[in-house]
Amino acid sequence: MDLVFVSPAAELPEGAAFAIIAQEGAVLSGLAAEVDAQTGGALGRALAGSRFTGAKGQTLEIVAPAGHPAQRLVLVGAGKAEALDDIAAEHAAASAYQAVKLSGVSTLRIALEGAKGGQAERAALGVRLAAYRFDRYRTKEPADKKPSVSRVEIVCADVAAATSGFAAHAALADAIAFARDLVSEPPNVLYPAEFARRVKGLESLGLEVEILGEAEMEKLGMGSLLGVGRGSARESQLAIMRWNGAADPKAQPVAFVGKGVCFDTGGISLKPAEGMEDMKWDMGGAAAVAGLMHALAGRKAKVNAVGILGLVENMPDGEAQRPGDVVTSMSGQTIEIINTDAEGRLVLADALWYCQERFKPKFMVDLATLTGAIIISLGNDYAGLFSNNDELSENLLAASKVEGEPLWRMPLPAAYDKQIDSMIADMKNTGGRPGGSITAALFLQRFVNGLPWAHMDIASTAWKKPSTVPTLPEGATGYGVRLLNRMVADKYEG
Ligand code: BES
Ligand code: MN
Ligand code: ZN
Repeated sequence: MDLVFVSPAAELPEGAAFAIIAQEGAVLSGLAAEVDAQTGGALGRALAGSRFTGAKGQTLEIVAPAGHPAQRLVLVGAGKAEALDDIAAEHAAASAYQAVKLSGVSTLRIALEGAKGGQAERAALGVRLAAYRFDRYRTKEPADKKPSVSRVEIVCADVAAATSGFAAHAALADAIAFARDLVSEPPNVLYPAEFARRVKGLESLGLEVEILGEAEMEKLGMGSLLGVGRGSARESQLAIMRWNGAADPKAQPVAFVGKGVCFDTGGISLKPAEGMEDMKWDMGGAAAVAGLMHALAGRKAKVNAVGILGLVENMPDGEAQRPGDVVTSMSGQTIEIINTDAEGRLVLADALWYCQERFKPKFMVDLATLTGAIIISLGNDYAGLFSNNDELSENLLAASKVEGEPLWRMPLPAAYDKQIDSMIADMKNTGGRPGGSITAALFLQRFVNGLPWAHMDIASTAWKKPSTVPTLPEGATGYGVRLLNRMVADKYEG
């Protein structure tokens, strides 16, 4: 898809769809009023016979009358003028795209009246995110079911400024698409070694990537991570990604750690069949970290950053670990396995320990589709944040607001920590049903060695079905890439 900025004076291509972002309470004003006059009052008549008020998310489409160069005209509600913030600009443009993507028109022009500085670029980002599609495995899709829009024009006052300003957003959109692709891939295609290969391919962006296999992890003593992959025919992997963009190559890095369970059957504690296919996206944390590293490299961020991905497959098998087993983690701490389905924390335990020991980072943030309980707590829009550090939490929450990726801080009460004490080992891997997301986070905390750390449980946000946000088409969201990229840009660069 071509995505370009054009001046308001540019001629509208014959047969295009023309979308006008309308303001609630003053729909037929400004540009909409002009177009209404050009069309002999057609917009006004359509409005009078509709329930369109300009509220967020509404669209009203009419076929343009003879004599108008557009094929169709679309009014997109963006809410009250004063509510047109950057996210609203993204959503409005994304809604315009969603409204006409299957209509048959090939060119869509979007005019955002009242757009403030930078909002034309945000609108373009909104379109890029909305237009994401994973269609690699569809061989028979009829042409009339495929999006017809191949060119999107965003109207703006300063075309040159918007075009150059969009470069960083485009790098971000590429990174999010990379993460979404990883999450969308079926688990027979994207197993740990294949995930590692794709991440290795990012070296072309200037990242350094090391891949450790089972023998290397054995030497490091990663009995916790390796136990999870024991039932799988696929080799477990640890991917270490580095971006060195700071002026001082020795500057202390920031670090991100991702849960990459390429498929989670539950292991011997087997999950029920219903919905098990969802567990292909149990690597959404690792995909978000890989996407973040892609974004940092893509925009040449002035920071040193490390991304560690624990890549495994959790399968039942004669070699698989059992409930009752005791494993020894890289930290030396022993873990009694109560439920082999609580595997994400076992993977992260060794990945976090390795990260802090080797890189001594400023902080670690891990992302993981860790618990079903976070969906019960927060529903499907918010990810859960757990942290031992208020400053890091505030930075993450601030970035979450700017980027429109909702995040909610949860408590880490010391009193609950005894729920994961074991009778025969240093700890056990489940703490029972009460506060399941919290005890999972408390488990992770035992492997951060006192470093500033935050854990984001994204089981609630990594996959969206049905879609409720125009920039998040059904399926993989890429949640976390934007938020972390923003936090790094605003707080840890320069
Ligand atoms: N991958 C799951 C968590 C999950 C559930 C992610 C639903 C996305 C959607 C995780 O490995 C898991 O199985 N957690 C268990 C933990 C329990 C056994 C303590 C859970 O949430 O039930
Ligand atoms: Mn599990
Ligand atoms: Zn899992």
